[in-house]
Amino acid sequence: MRSGRRSSRGSETPPGAGGPRGRTPRSGEVQVRAARAEDVGSVAALWVALLAYHRDLGEEDIHPSRASAEGRRFIKEHVGTGDRICLVAESGDGAIGFLVGTLRKRSAAFGGWRYGHIYDVYVHGPYRRTGVGRALVEEAVRWFRARGVRRVQLQVRAHNAAGIGFWKGLGFGDLAVTMERRL
Ligand SMILES: CC(C)(COP(=O)(O)OP(=O)(O)OC[C@H]1O[C@@H](n2cnc3c(N)ncnc32)[C@H](O)[C@@H]1OP(=O)(O)O)[C@@H](O)C(=O)NCCC(=O)NCCS
Repeated sequence: MRSGRRSSRGSETPPGAGGPRGRTPRSGEVQVRAARAEDVGSVAALWVALLAYHRDLGEEDIHPSRASAEGRRFIKEHVGTGDRICLVAESGDGAIGFLVGTLRKRSAAFGGWRYGHIYDVYVHGPYRRTGVGRALVEEAVRWFRARGVRRVQLQVRAHNAAGIGFWKGLGFGDLAVTMERRL
């Protein structure tokens, strides 16, 4: 999850998408595509649900109910621009997942290479473990590769075991440890 974003609902809020937990979408039922201006509201609702997921994992500073306007702003900034990417995964139920990322460049002293940074990936609960997250990341990797990028980085919270399992399952490895001391 993108660090530094804070939002306020106490529990993960399902977006408009319905469907019983544990359903297995048929292959081809979910489409991954670049988000458009008209998707900003539904993707922002998923972003708020992502914050609620983190709140449920124990991040007490997160306030999903205060995050709606910030979510819209953040998603809008990543739609339809040259160096940022916002993907939406869509089923017959509407938007059920998203990915947000950007292109970044290291300074010359650190190699000068450009790299992809993924802020957030989220899949609505009933659709998890059916390949939607993988499809979102693979599409982002294609997008980064087409722009000459050969490395993709991201941050994941140390207590998000499922998130870490996901990234490791997709071939990502440990790069840095973020440390904190409360004062
Ligand atoms: C993490 C998340 C995006 C994964 O999406 P998903 O659609 O369920 O993932 P996929 O079905 O494409 O899984 C791809 C691979 O990742 C790994 N993986 C996925 N979820 C996992 C989990 N809970 N535990 C361990 N490994 C997992 C597996 O290797 C899986 O392949 P397999 O199903 O063939 O074994 C989704 O669980 C989610 O939205 N979680 C809440 C938000 C979050 O943690 N985001 C990522 C951290 S920023």
